[in-house]
Amino acid sequence: MNDKKLVIALTKGRILEEVLPLLETVGLSPAEDINKSRKLIFDTNLEDIQLMILRGSDVPTYVELGSADIGITGKDILMENGSDGYYEPLDLKLATCRLMTAAPVNQTTTPKRLRVASKFVNIAKNYFSGQGRQVDIIKLNGALELAPIMGLADCIVDIVDTGNTLKANGLETREHIADVSTRVIVNKAAMKIKHDRIQSLLERLSEAVSD
Ligand code: PRP
Repeated sequence: MNDKKLVIALTKGRILEEVLPLLETVGLSPAEDINKSRKLIFDTNLEDIQLMILRGSDVPTYVELGSADIGITGKDILMENGSDGYYEPLDLKLATCRLMTAAPVNQTTTPKRLRVASKFVNIAKNYFSGQGRQVDIIKLNGALELAPIMGLADCIVDIVDTGNTLKANGLETREHIADVSTRVIVNKAAMKIKHDRIQSLLERLSEAVSD
């Protein structure tokens, strides 16, 4: 852990787009335009804070192992990661969406043992086992909507925002698994060692979110 700097791991994509303006409102901005650079770590207007840009699924790993002090990522990522190796003190209520099951429109027959395609294999496993339903989980890394269309799976577990991707591929939502929003996570040791700086940032973010 770098004792001098506070390192914040951000999730690239839609979360980044929504989080950067929020960080601006609490007085934190990258020293250069993140979208115009291939760099993955950025200095900021504050000498003691750096921003890292990662895939969401890597944010919990960096925070748990202490290479980042703070992480900002989706609840879906945290649910899938399933670790309690960090604190989750704040819901930023950004990039909201839902984790749902989805299946082809008009598909009415349900096989005895459902084949479920997802990149969220742990979420899917926990959801169906919580209901006492035995399913076969098929791990995919993207374009999940193709799986039912191509006969690879009966349904998918995926993020739904506008529902446009499902609609465009002849699928519809079925079961609601969880609401998802952007969360702040904090490394446990950093919360002690860098307590004042982290607490002050959390308070400013919390105020900005509730405004
Ligand atoms: C997510 C998800 C769907 C889409 C849903 O993909 O996997 O494909 O967004 O959004 P909609 O309901 O507004 O159509 P994302 O864009 O995050 O890309 P990824 O699957 O490659 O991570």
